[in-house]
Amino acid sequence: MKVKKLELGFFKVNCYILSLDEKDIIIDPGADFNTIQQYLKKENIKPDFILNTHGHYDHIGAVTDVISNYNIPFYIHELEEPIIKDPEKNLSSFFGKNGLSLKTYNLIKKSDYNYFADFGIKIVNTAGHTPGSIIIIAGNCVFTGDLLFKESVGRTDLAGGDIIQMKKSLVKIKSMEAEMELHPGHGPSSTLEHELKNNYYLQDDFLKEDY
Ligand SMILES: [Fe+2]
Repeated sequence: MKVKKLELGFFKVNCYILSLDEKDIIIDPGADFNTIQQYLKKENIKPDFILNTHGHYDHIGAVTDVISNYNIPFYIHELEEPIIKDPEKNLSSFFGKNGLSLKTYNLIKKSDYNYFADFGIKIVNTAGHTPGSIIIIAGNCVFTGDLLFKESVGRTDLAGGDIIQMKKSLVKIKSMEAEMELHPGHGPSSTLEHELKNNYYLQDDFLKEDY
């Protein structure tokens, strides 16, 4: 298994190329298709599909270009559908030159999780930043999207954000093995062991606080 991180676009979103034994997966293709294409060409990789942690503008900017150039499917959790279709909800109407409304996508329902298990990938719905945010677990790596960053967490004040759900999702991550590597949607990677010690948002004081 190989993980390549590409930092893309104005918001420096972390796009990951996850190469498994038989599949190459693009996680969160942010708005810089050229950088993605150059890497894939250099490594002679033909990607199999796109899998997104959630549907915000900075994470989906190159989805349409990747689909049209490689003719591959794009998967996102079903609860993200309103976000990827709505430029206000995915924030592209605020930050992008043109509002972004995706037309081509495959929605992941709970019953579809097994499709990814066939490739050795586990996905878990971890609402909080957005309702359909997922974490993607492959081997000892967890791709945490905008749920968990190194020593921080994602925002819950955007459309669909929910602090109570966020806490429940953080508890799910806490229960994983401490040596798991964490690859967030922005900023540097970490380990769960480091976060358990240094991330305020994983401490009981925060998780038990009422809102
Ligand atoms: Fe986000």
